[in-house]
Amino acid sequence: MTIKNPTQNIHAFITGVSSGIGRALAENMLEQGYRVSGIARRKAALKTLAAKYDLFFGITCDVTDSDMLADAIHQAEHRHGAIHQAILNAGTYVPQSDLSLDPVLFRQQMDINYMGQVNALAALLPLMESRQNGHIVLISSVAGWRGLPLAASYGPTKSASISLAESLYFMCRQNKIKLQVICPGFVETEATAQNTFNMPMIMTAPQAANAIMKGMRSSKFMVSFPFLFALSLKILRIIPYRWYFWLMKRTTGQR
Ligand SMILES: NC(=O)c1ccc[n+]([C@@H]2O[C@H](COP(=O)([O-])OP(=O)(O)OC[C@H]3O[C@@H](n4cnc5c(N)ncnc54)[C@H](OP(=O)(O)O)[C@@H]3O)[C@@H](O)[C@H]2O)c1
Repeated sequence: MTIKNPTQNIHAFITGVSSGIGRALAENMLEQGYRVSGIARRKAALKTLAAKYDLFFGITCDVTDSDMLADAIHQAEHRHGAIHQAILNAGTYVPQSDLSLDPVLFRQQMDINYMGQVNALAALLPLMESRQNGHIVLISSVAGWRGLPLAASYGPTKSASISLAESLYFMCRQNKIKLQVICPGFVETEATAQNTFNMPMIMTAPQAANAIMKGMRSSKFMVSFPFLFALSLKILRIIPYRWYFWLMKRTTGQR
């Protein structure tokens, strides 16, 4: 698809564009005339996006490989110029429904969800620091706010992203790099298709992409949505454990 009147001249770099939120976000930006470089492991999905949008540049890359990711960022800048916005979205989710913990799965999720973001930041921050300009968004989750049933392996990866962003915030600010962390509630994607429980206030991926775009235009450090779901989890985040566990038991049916 050729965009006749690009309204933007922004180069956005997005990780995890082959499905779900990342794909919806890439399409949203491309339809507004952004130049988008996107990475994922599935080549076919990147080819489909490239065939549909002239301004899309797809690079096959695994975020757990720091050299490969640094090279992808280099290729993206070679093709579309300096990256203005980077949305570090690539992620994976494996529900933990019993007490048989598999350390391999725990490490895999930490490697993709958290170290994938660290690997991207390691390549992006020096570039943005040298330009004294840039905007980075870490996609975390409301599941990073407090331990949730089934999220024993996933939740800590999302808490780690929030802590990482909080820790880097001041140095980024001193170097004119806008750093935000985005915490979506439930979104219909391949990841949540694994869930068999009722997911309150679930959104579609295009709705989540709109909420992310709105959040990125704001000056908020942390953006969370949908509003009522995020609000109820914000309250759960600060109440004492005794009340928290009682409420979780009532609402999730856990004993
Ligand atoms: N869905 C939700 O309810 C929800 C809620 C809060 C936060 N989130 C977060 O939103 C982000 C996107 O999730 P989603 O729900 O859209 O899931 P999804 O549909 O499964 O998409 C995940 C994306 O990440 C990419 N990815 C996974 N491992 C990768 C790797 N090693 N290297 C490069 N890319 C990789 C996948 O591409 P390939 O497989 O092609 O590599 C895919 O494009 C995640 O960080 C997730 O934790 C999701």
